[in-house]
Amino acid sequence: MRPYIIAGNWKMNGNEALLIAVREALRDIETGARVMIIPPFVYLPSATQHFRDTGLSVGAQNISAHEEGAYTGEVSALMLRDVGCHYVLVGHSERRALYGEANDVVAQKFIAAQKVGIVPILCVGETLAEREAGRTMDVIEASLEAVRQAAGIASFHKAVVAYEPVWAIGTGVAATPEMAQAVHADIRKWAAKHDEGLAKNLQILYGGSVSSSNAESLFGMPDIDGGLVGGASLKPDVFAEIVAKAR
Ligand code: PGA
Repeated sequence: MRPYIIAGNWKMNGNEALLIAVREALRDIETGARVMIIPPFVYLPSATQHFRDTGLSVGAQNISAHEEGAYTGEVSALMLRDVGCHYVLVGHSERRALYGEANDVVAQKFIAAQKVGIVPILCVGETLAEREAGRTMDVIEASLEAVRQAAGIASFHKAVVAYEPVWAIGTGVAATPEMAQAVHADIRKWAAKHDEGLAKNLQILYGGSVSSSNAESLFGMPDIDGGLVGGASLKPDVFAEIVAKAR
């Protein structure tokens, strides 16, 4: 059995008070999931402090592809590890769309994270136009292949994949469980082509308008191993409900 992961991606939202509120809301929640909060960089040190002895993990939203040097505004893998970060998002669609991160750069970030033992959460997904053109799996495979070619298929054993249809992010219109399941199954098939064992163990999260009302049916799908939750992770009680659905 693959354990669930529920990750709360705060994007450029939240503050120290929210870290504490989330911790309190999750205190007595029963779940079968590894739960993590992915706050903006500046809150990472307080997150690790506030979450000490809670079982909650901390992730970052971005990482530099470079180890160190003259890269103003960037944060390196070692720095993230220093402040207690165990996971990092790479290739979130907002990074791709707003900051021009292409598959090759995303692959370099994936490698930079793994070099220091941070688990990359590789985000993949299609736009509405790409879906309507029947190109969903082409787009996703291109992202997966860029990483495979740069880092090797074995690197996926120490990574997580998040399927996030771009049209579902922040829109309130989630993919139906059946639509998401179909893509997750295709991603697993892609993995199986290269490594059967990987296909069985790879954790694939769904992201895009996950809410307390759709979480249960999404997480009930055989190839969906949890969720990457944006907006709903900013409401501690709602996030706790979602976490409770992962059993
Ligand atoms: P959303 O965001 O849950 O607000 O749609 C998900 C994400 O961007 O990771």
